[in-house]
Amino acid sequence: MDLTAFVAAMPKTELHVHLEGTLERELLVRLAERNGVQVPLPEGGFTDLTSFLAQYYPAMRALVTEDDFFELAWAYLVKAASQSVVHAELFFDPQAHTGRGVPFPTVIGGYRRAVVKAQRELGVHADLILCFLRDLTAEHAMSTLMEALPYKDWIVGVGLDSDERGNPPAKFAAVFARARSEGFLLTMHCDIDQPGSIDNIRAALVDVEVDRIDHGTNIVEDPELVDLVRERGIGLTCCPVSNGFVTADMKAVEIAALLRSGVKVTVSSDDPAYFGGYVTENLLALATAADLTPEELVQLQRNALEVSWLAPFRRDALLAALEAYAAGAVTA
Ligand code: ADE
Ligand code: ZN
Repeated sequence: MDLTAFVAAMPKTELHVHLEGTLERELLVRLAERNGVQVPLPEGGFTDLTSFLAQYYPAMRALVTEDDFFELAWAYLVKAASQSVVHAELFFDPQAHTGRGVPFPTVIGGYRRAVVKAQRELGVHADLILCFLRDLTAEHAMSTLMEALPYKDWIVGVGLDSDERGNPPAKFAAVFARARSEGFLLTMHCDIDQPGSIDNIRAALVDVEVDRIDHGTNIVEDPELVDLVRERGIGLTCCPVSNGFVTADMKAVEIAALLRSGVKVTVSSDDPAYFGGYVTENLLALATAADLTPEELVQLQRNALEVSWLAPFRRDALLAALEAYAAGAVTA
């Protein structure tokens, strides 16, 4: 079987992609010129999460108007359609924009317009997930949550990203409890190889009771956590290409071991404009490094749909389409 063609055409679900991390250099330069702002161009060479974030946030200054946010999300969704993505759950970082004077409605208005247009014109379904920046205060996160409430219908859940060091889940327990009571689903970054990774994953699961974990592969070090994640059917949204940039390797061995032990592992792209791989490239990189079979690649996509935040009717239709694709490809 031609694995590249098989993965490329497989109907795919992406659960971990930061819209601001899809800002490709060409669009960045065009928006910066249009807005008359000086923006440092990302140079790469990241060695960890902190050094990546130091290039990531300054580049966002190119995003100013509602049209800018629309164009960013639209460019991602066009790319996603070209990779046979049928459903995407999209992180966005409002505080990275409101903190420099861009109003919340400008950000979400642009993103929402792209989501609606993608459903109509590309046949790609997408939902937005609001991420709080964990290196800012819990009060700032709470006021951002309050600002988001009028837009509840446009936001499926909340997440937590940015620099994990010194910013454990407990800091945001009250914010996440309030988000849950407002009807949002909950996820949280538990980044790779952080100081206190295991304690933070346990807190996210036991204290905050998240529905999903972004990254989280460090559970391999703790069999009890693996059991807990498996028993609860918690999805891990793994991003192998990103892992290879912010740590020494892509953690293919760990991701594959968790997949093979029955954990609902999924594969996504994180910040593809910075790490150079969209979802197809992430799946292929993992397949090559961990010798995944076509059936395991289908399982990753089955997991993604099962732990997605889609309405059941939509999820079941996409699961049926995935099974039909897999059956057809195997007998072809
Ligand atoms: N923001 C964008 N990508 C991120 C990641 N992988 N971890 C934490 N914060 C992020
Ligand atoms: Zn991420």
